[in-house]
Amino acid sequence: MPKRIYMLLVILTTIFACSKDNDTPPDTTTPISVSFEVIVSQQNTLRVTVNNTSTGISGLNSYWQFTKNGSVVQDEAGPEMHLYDASGEYLITLTVEAPDDDIQVSETVMVIGGDSMHPALKDATDKFSVGMAVQSNRMGGQHGEILVREFNNLTAEYEMKMNIMYPSQGNYDFTAADAIVNYGVANNMDIHGHTLIWHNATPDWVENFTGTDQEFEDMIEDYITTVVTRYAGVVRSWDVVNEAIEDGSNQLRNSVFRTRMGDDYISKCYQFARNADPDVLLFYNDYNITFDEGKQAAIFAIVDGLASQNLIDGVGAQMHIDIYFPSSSQIQSVVDGTVARGLKMHFAELDVRINPSNDISSLTEEREIAQQNKVREVVELYDAIPDANKFAITIWGMRDNETWLIDFWGQPDWPLLYNSNFEAKKAHSGFLEALNN
Ligand code: XIL
Repeated sequence: MPKRIYMLLVILTTIFACSKDNDTPPDTTTPISVSFEVIVSQQNTLRVTVNNTSTGISGLNSYWQFTKNGSVVQDEAGPEMHLYDASGEYLITLTVEAPDDDIQVSETVMVIGGDSMHPALKDATDKFSVGMAVQSNRMGGQHGEILVREFNNLTAEYEMKMNIMYPSQGNYDFTAADAIVNYGVANNMDIHGHTLIWHNATPDWVENFTGTDQEFEDMIEDYITTVVTRYAGVVRSWDVVNEAIEDGSNQLRNSVFRTRMGDDYISKCYQFARNADPDVLLFYNDYNITFDEGKQAAIFAIVDGLASQNLIDGVGAQMHIDIYFPSSSQIQSVVDGTVARGLKMHFAELDVRINPSNDISSLTEEREIAQQNKVREVVELYDAIPDANKFAITIWGMRDNETWLIDFWGQPDWPLLYNSNFEAKKAHSGFLEALNN
């Protein structure tokens, strides 16, 4: 894999403001220290972010020049971005101007931009899409740059769940969901809807529904119909029911949906979704189904029931895994069960913990390599699935510091493909290596 190479030379000067007025002594009491930071984007090395970190310049004007003798740009508060047309060596100048006496101080930085970026994940295969879980406030800036470059499938991490879209009876709120869906459409991405029915994202008013069971069922039908219809033709696939099986006992989870609508609530919900959009792909999604044999059997029993009514198109195996576990043969078992049924396999919610035993407090190279190897193994295994059964691998978050797992487990971890500086990790290389063989 080509290595990204770029260099940053910074020539720093500190210049103190002095007055030109001969009648008064030079004012050395309020020194102006001029400095700035430059970050060359790893995703697009033509993109440079500058941040004026000067001190003592209150009331003075500052200007940027991004090329020698180029046009002058007024400095705004906060970091600013400049995009070059071609790679090369550029002189960036920050000028601080004292209006009273025309004193100018400047500082120069030379940027040598390389153009050897890593290949994009989505370009590494045309057999399945590569998905990312997003939040509506994480689609701009560097998030957006990476999203558009690397991914061709979007899942809302939480904003297309019932507690967000249906906060009170009769009042839908599609603000965030629309923003995510529109973003995906504008950027030619598939949208995976996640998730219509999930016991962990049920609004309180639904948990405590005061009407009859029939009214409850009618309300659920209205909800599924409203949501699926709204995004028909745009959302390509929906997780209809998420995590219906109880841990341990592997029985049907005793959610409000089960108690109100009966043991066949699952097929009712899939039927509502099918009726609302006959073309959308319907998935069942759950966790620990690679290694928990009882749970896997329980899930395939549900899936078989749905398949007999032509109500299911695919199985989502949540890939919340770690560098040690589950084994590739355990992962293979859920693939085999899905392929044998002629369904699409979604490796959903991929994150690979490297600190499951909480024995490290900072990321080590050894663990990063182990993570790279695990990601490569998982993606190789996925790539070997017959093409007709392939669907997508979805990664559950962009940067390590944004993962839901830190809150969930209450301990540090680095489970994703990008570090907190938006830099691709070794795990990212592992993904690509699997598809470049
Ligand atoms: C998690 C999200 O990552 C969090 O942001 C949210 O607060 C709770 O849900 N299984 C699922 C996902 O199906 O929807 C969950 O996502 C993680 C576990």
